[in-house]
Amino acid sequence: MKTNITVSYIDELIKERLPRERDKVLQAMEYMLFSGGKRFRPMLLLNTAKAVGKRISDGAKNLAVALEFIHTYSLIHDDLPCMDNDDMRRGKRSCHMQFGEASAVLAGDALLNLSFETVLKGPLSNKSYQTACVYMFKMSGIEGLVHGQSLDLFGETKNIDDATELAIAKTGTLIRAALVCGALVGGASEEEARIFDEIACKLGVCYQIVDDILDSKKCEKSFLDVYSESDLIDHVKELNEEIKAACDKLPYDLEFLKEFCDQNIARRR
Ligand code: IPE
Ligand code: IPE
Ligand code: MG
Ligand code: MG
Ligand code: MG
Repeated sequence: MKTNITVSYIDELIKERLPRERDKVLQAMEYMLFSGGKRFRPMLLLNTAKAVGKRISDGAKNLAVALEFIHTYSLIHDDLPCMDNDDMRRGKRSCHMQFGEASAVLAGDALLNLSFETVLKGPLSNKSYQTACVYMFKMSGIEGLVHGQSLDLFGETKNIDDATELAIAKTGTLIRAALVCGALVGGASEEEARIFDEIACKLGVCYQIVDDILDSKKCEKSFLDVYSESDLIDHVKELNEEIKAACDKLPYDLEFLKEFCDQNIARRR
């Protein structure tokens, strides 16, 4: 599928939904929102909505921007000294290094609030949109990303099942939000949304495996605690085949998902 859903297209959608006040916390939010993120979650959401519904609705745009706001807040908080204590993000100083811890905490809080405000400005009387909004916040909360961060901080990774559970929770959940919300607003059936959800869980595992390989010097929990790099790459290849087979079960042009699988595995040095 040829797509005009580029990083700069997403940047514009984000800018249209940002407040205009001058504020130090808003500066910290903008610093992190425009520091070279790949924007793959909103891209997946919009591409899924377009593949299923043949168009990109305003509801899909609001959900895509809200998802990037949630992702950005999660990165700001993830880097804090009380979490991963990372001084650098995307090759630049992390948010708390640049603006101080208090501003970074508040920038995360404000981004999460802005994600609520953004989806609440969408077509709330539409049942599929409502279901998508609920799903997005379920995936970002204690049954989703927050649970993942909790497992990462307080859980144990003794085997591949533990590592997979962690990856689905901390990384898979926002990808689930991307695909399922895109599918729902595009008009997919419940059964189709379920298949998109299964695909998203596998994409989350593949993405986190490659992220762990790229981050191999770090001492946080990692797939490398339980498998060698070459076994992990074989595992990603197997999952990619399963994802592509699941895409073929759906009556849509999902070439962009197959390309995402290939681009992910190519991220390795
Ligand atoms: C980083 O996500 C956090 C993980 C889930 C591994 P991305 O790799 O999408 O980060 P950016 O936004 O493109 O920098
Ligand atoms: C990714 O966890 C999930 C998040 C919620 C940020 P990581 O801690 O592995 O992500 P990076 O490596 O800092 O991007
Ligand atoms: Mg982390
Ligand atoms: Mg981290
Ligand atoms: Mg990492």
